[in-house]
Amino acid sequence: MAEYDYDVLVIGAGPGGYVAAIRAAQLGLKTACAESRGTLGGTCLNVGCIPSKAMLHGSELFEEANEGLLAKFGVQTGKVGLDLDALLSEKDDAVKGLTGGIEYLFKKNKVDWLKGHASFKDAHSVEVDGKTVSAENIVIATGSSVTPLPNVEVDNERGVIVDSTGALSLAKVPKHMVVIGGGVIGLELGSVWRRLGAKVTVVEFLDQILPGMDGEVRKEANKLFSKQGIEFKLSTKVTGASVRGKTATLTLEPAEGGDSEELKADCVLVAIGRKPNTDGLNLDAIGLETNKRGQIETDHDFSTKIDGVWAVGDVIPGPMLAHKAEDEGIAVAENIAGQIGIVNHDVIPSVVYTMPEIAGVGLTEEAAKEAGHKVKTGKFPMLANSRAKTNRDTDGFVKVVADAESDQVLGVWIVASLAGTMIAQAAQAMEFGALSEDIAYTCHAHPTHSEALKEAAMAVRGKPIHI
Ligand code: FAD
Ligand code: NAI
Repeated sequence: MAEYDYDVLVIGAGPGGYVAAIRAAQLGLKTACAESRGTLGGTCLNVGCIPSKAMLHGSELFEEANEGLLAKFGVQTGKVGLDLDALLSEKDDAVKGLTGGIEYLFKKNKVDWLKGHASFKDAHSVEVDGKTVSAENIVIATGSSVTPLPNVEVDNERGVIVDSTGALSLAKVPKHMVVIGGGVIGLELGSVWRRLGAKVTVVEFLDQILPGMDGEVRKEANKLFSKQGIEFKLSTKVTGASVRGKTATLTLEPAEGGDSEELKADCVLVAIGRKPNTDGLNLDAIGLETNKRGQIETDHDFSTKIDGVWAVGDVIPGPMLAHKAEDEGIAVAENIAGQIGIVNHDVIPSVVYTMPEIAGVGLTEEAAKEAGHKVKTGKFPMLANSRAKTNRDTDGFVKVVADAESDQVLGVWIVASLAGTMIAQAAQAMEFGALSEDIAYTCHAHPTHSEALKEAAMAVRGKPIHI
């Protein structure tokens, strides 16, 4: 039998890869993880989930103080000012603490960190930093990177046309930020800089923001963000950009084609999606092809069609989300160890961390109908929720989508300040195959925002109490 250096070698130490490595080691497998970045944690911890949430939290506190919400509750802050350097350094501290935490977990679980870029030599060996390392199982968890927009060149150093990484570290608050792409990154980082004082214009190719979310949620989000001051140019595409000094000039056209117009900005954020990282892996050496979208296809157990080669996270099909990658990381390690690791891809919550937050799990009403369900829905506005009223954060609603015949919950969509926390309950209920009645008859603590989910479930049968 062949002798390998490791039982498992994971390529990439993002949420998919580092979790796979730790679980494999916990299961008694000799494990290494190759990572080319100087710190562990991948996109999520270094330039994604964590720094963006630090900026969202800080900018939210700034806005609460600045717009008088704190004063309303008796908190006297005096004159409110912004120390952007302090905010950026707090964000960097959060990143440092958490990426260092993964290094500690690797040591604790005896996962070897192979520092450098890994590329395949054959199905059981890779080259990392000039050395060949072999493993019985290799897990590709190389994640994703920013999708470039033709004719719009990102230069994060210069800071005029940036991607999400650049937008997390701008040296000053832009006067006018144009965001290309009304998706998750555009709305989160657009919200950050708007709260800190920028005028923000979002240019979106489609006729509505937040593709993939429930139609009513998309409309409500547009209404709320417009009220907050973000300007939307929908059904519009950017065809080119030039930079002179500190000013970018964008050329815009209707998505369907037509007369062009110019838009000037001192900062442009390109956020039109992300693409899987497979360049430089030398997949040819193992005969592994990617699909049309550049993703690595896997079976339900995360094995690829090459024996001993597995893949998880953003590099495979499915939503590009950290918790999806993490769950796949656990499952792949369990499968490699001979256990049964499963991820239910029908129940993956997604959250946009704006204010209010926007969260969903399962099918949208539109997708449920398209899938052939007869659908009934229940909706409950946060305006009628006592805690939201008390806290003065009444924007949004909860919507439950259920099958009209079986009453099984097919999807839950929430726009609310605490939507990201509330959606966990919906995901768990759906994982257990809940009916809307099950949620409606579950006792919810009062006064909580979560009661709105109970009431929306009651509304599926037309019987909410507080409206
Ligand atoms: P990644 O995190 O991308 O990690 C892959 C790692 O592999 C990288 O560190 C890379 O350096 C390394 N690598 C690649 N190729 C090689 C190679 N050949 N050799 C060695 N190393 C290699 N998701 C959420 O769920 N919630 C959020 O709030 C959220 N916020 C986000 C905010 C932003 C601004 C961005 C950009 C993304 C956000 N995401 C969020 C998405 C989330 O970051 C990704 O879904 C997640 O990081 C994917 O994990 P992964 O392990 O598949 O890949
Ligand atoms: P996205 O896919 O969410 O949104 C991209 C938007 O750009 C879409 O609305 C799309 O229609 C639009 N678009 C595409 N081409 C365009 C063009 N040429 N001109 C104008 N608009 C165009 O992608 P985004 O925001 O870049 O995020 C990437 C990934 O990162 C997402 O898949 C998301 O899952 C993940 N992410 C998750 C977060 C979270 O969970 N809170 C936060 C940030 C990112």
